[in-house]
Amino acid sequence: MSKNTYYITTPIYYPSNKLHIGNSYTTVAADALARFKRLTGYDVRFLTGTDEHGQKIQRSAAEAGKDPQDFVDEIVAWIKDLWSALDISYDDFIRTTEPRHKEAVAKIFDRLYQQGDIYRGRYEGWYCTPCESFWTARQAEDGNCPDCGRPVEKVAEEGYFFRMSKYAPRLLEHINANPDFIQPVSRKNEMINNFLQPGLEDLCVSRTTFDWGIPVPFDRKHVVYVWLDALSNYITALGYGSGDESLFQKYWPADVHLIGKDIVRFHTIYWPIFLMALGLPLPRKVFGHGWLILKEGKMSKSKGNVVDPMILIQRYGSDSVRYFLLREIPFGADGVFSNESMLQRINTDLANDLGNLLSRTVTMVERFFGGIVPAYKVEDNAYPSDRELRETALNTPSKMAEFMENLQLSSALEALWALVRRSNKYIDENTPWALAKKEEEKERLGTVLYNLCESLRFISVLLLPFMPRTPERIWLQLGIGSEVNLHTWESLQEWGQLKPGSRALRAEDLFPRLDLERELSFLSEKIGGKAIKEGVKERSTVEEKADKNVEQISIGEFARVDIRVAEILSAEPVPKTDKLLKLILHVGEEKRQVVAGIALHYSPEELIGKKVLFVSNLKPVKLRGLLSEGMILAATSPEGKVILTTVDGDIASGSKIS
Ligand code: MSP
Repeated sequence: MSKNTYYITTPIYYPSNKLHIGNSYTTVAADALARFKRLTGYDVRFLTGTDEHGQKIQRSAAEAGKDPQDFVDEIVAWIKDLWSALDISYDDFIRTTEPRHKEAVAKIFDRLYQQGDIYRGRYEGWYCTPCESFWTARQAEDGNCPDCGRPVEKVAEEGYFFRMSKYAPRLLEHINANPDFIQPVSRKNEMINNFLQPGLEDLCVSRTTFDWGIPVPFDRKHVVYVWLDALSNYITALGYGSGDESLFQKYWPADVHLIGKDIVRFHTIYWPIFLMALGLPLPRKVFGHGWLILKEGKMSKSKGNVVDPMILIQRYGSDSVRYFLLREIPFGADGVFSNESMLQRINTDLANDLGNLLSRTVTMVERFFGGIVPAYKVEDNAYPSDRELRETALNTPSKMAEFMENLQLSSALEALWALVRRSNKYIDENTPWALAKKEEEKERLGTVLYNLCESLRFISVLLLPFMPRTPERIWLQLGIGSEVNLHTWESLQEWGQLKPGSRALRAEDLFPRLDLERELSFLSEKIGGKAIKEGVKERSTVEEKADKNVEQISIGEFARVDIRVAEILSAEPVPKTDKLLKLILHVGEEKRQVVAGIALHYSPEELIGKKVLFVSNLKPVKLRGLLSEGMILAATSPEGKVILTTVDGDIASGSKIS
């Protein structure tokens, strides 16, 4: 049986500047949707590309002293690298300078002219070059573009015009009859009230004052207006107007054009009218999402406040950046980017909620069951939290699917995090470390840990569309890396697909907790566009220098430090702090209390039983009112991750290190 098709597009980007984190949102969102649809069984076609013609690009190239084609080639290569760094799974990347596109656009223009929808005239009015859009004197009455607010330029030139007015009533009818066509609804109302109701004017669809565009086939002084050229990409990429229209037959009409709110007018007025004139069906949905803005307003190159996505990806990983973007912009509205908000999301949602859930679970499977995922028993009456966890997991896929259907991506992630949080709560409710102390609770402990592993499997599969790299890392820790049948949407129909007996294996933390102060100072230095390579270089040379400058001491001085092996007997959080843990250590015959700043890196239960290195002759100090009698040793990675130094082999606590 052939699968249902799903055709999704992003806008094609102007390669006039490198893209910033806000631009990346559209493409990351489209990628998450495409991956979600593939996961749920659709035959997906996902298109992106670049919009390379027009006055704006020609000017930018001239300013850079480059030939326009060389100029765009360089930026397009950078954009493709960015999409690959962000794991964008597009099926096709169209460039409007490719012959396949140019030839088809020339045919479209010719056809519209032949059938009388395009006629020759003279344009006098206003033009906004950054938006590549025409405005009447009434619309741009203060001399500024009604869309972007920048000054418009006076244009008086010969031009070809498209008869927009002829199709306006049909379009209005279509919009009213198809409530899903323009989403969210607020954008639909804006289009009707501001543009369609007052009456559409015919649109100038050619330019003569520059030549960086597709020549009008029958009048080569003119180039095709860049929006008619660009919008056509959605069908030329499918082979429309070429010798092979099989993709076009299969995938058109698009299921969704995902775009930013600033270009809704082009996609819901001009584009459907061009399609009507060509006798083609209209896209099923045009969704205008909100913007990622800064606290002080828009990101813009001229303000010098753009956030370079490459810096963030290289420092925090593409999955963290994707998660932040998808979680931060609510349905249709704007979301605020700040360094703090991004770091908080990574630490709270990824390191704490998700990362700790996995590390706590796998650590306990290792400690209490030698790494073998235990068997489980269904005893809902005795343990209602089992049923709640299982039902939450089983209901999450359909909840997410519904949100995704309505393009509510951040709500879909919220629904998934409800399961992550439910699972963490399940640990607190069932206190597996306490069950582990009683032999008669072994079976119950097995059930609790099994349920956590299975819930993590659900979470990992549902994460696939949003954070494509993380699930694999979870599967490896759960011991199901090669069990591909457990990585599917279908495997979430039933609880208990994970086989007891799998070999779980603790690996490094999914998302090491970030040191906020350190990261904020890194970001405030880097934001604005410097390459990450410089950042890494600067950091490592500083560290190398520091290493060379370490003060030397004699062996006698070192011998004054009494370092011992100590076993951690108990660990508990220090109230009102999120960094400190109170530890009781066994050091030979002695017990010592130590307050250690490791709560962000270790949960209390994973510390119990560990043998660590301990400085025993430090003068005692009081921390938060608690006596700390010595210090345990730990290593800190350049990213701020803290790992305790433990001893290799079986050695009694109290043993001396020398
Ligand atoms: N070339 C046109 C689109 C032609 S489609 C046939 C264009 N290009 S663009 O490069 O300026 O913008 C591409 C996308 O980035 C648009 O959807 C735009 O809304 C989006 N964004 C630009 N800045 C943004 C944010 N700060 N936040 C979210 N999206 C943003 O328009």
